[in-house]
Amino acid sequence: MRRTSEEENTIAPDGEPMDAQPQWRKDFPIDRSQDEFVARRDFTKFLVLTSAAFGVGQSWIVAKSLADGASERTVEAREIAGLNELEVGKSKIFHFPTAADPCVLVRTGENEFVAYSQLCTHLSCPIMPDPRDGQLHCPCHNGFFDVATGRATAGPPKRPLPKINLEVRNGLVFATGVELRTV
Ligand code: FES
Repeated sequence: MRRTSEEENTIAPDGEPMDAQPQWRKDFPIDRSQDEFVARRDFTKFLVLTSAAFGVGQSWIVAKSLADGASERTVEAREIAGLNELEVGKSKIFHFPTAADPCVLVRTGENEFVAYSQLCTHLSCPIMPDPRDGQLHCPCHNGFFDVATGRATAGPPKRPLPKINLEVRNGLVFATGVELRTV
């Protein structure tokens, strides 16, 4: 390729103007003026694509939060404890709805049980089943949840623990579903 004296622009081997050149030559020009043009054009393209990706991502997050807001996963009920297996104030770890989902069952009264996912809503450390002070404690970053509601009360966690719905039938406690909550 050679340069013209008046414009200081390089002439392509076929002598045709830049507009008539193949795309690869336009994308990788030799001359600074054209390179800046491509850089501006690519930067604009980058901005548009990044903005579009950001918008799509935000929309997905909003849609997911709305969907998760008060959703309940109905799954097959499973027996998780005998009615008199736990004394009031005691707790038990179980897995529901799958073996990979640790949960904690707490007997909060003579006829009252609550159960939550055992994974802290901050960074998924297991909360400790020690509800003596009416709290569930996450030792990782000192997060606390109200044992009666599963809502975050102190520390980094902001979202409540997923609640496990329970039923008592024939002297047995069953887990019947998972309630995902955002507030
Ligand atoms: S993981 Fe529970 S407080 Fe951070």
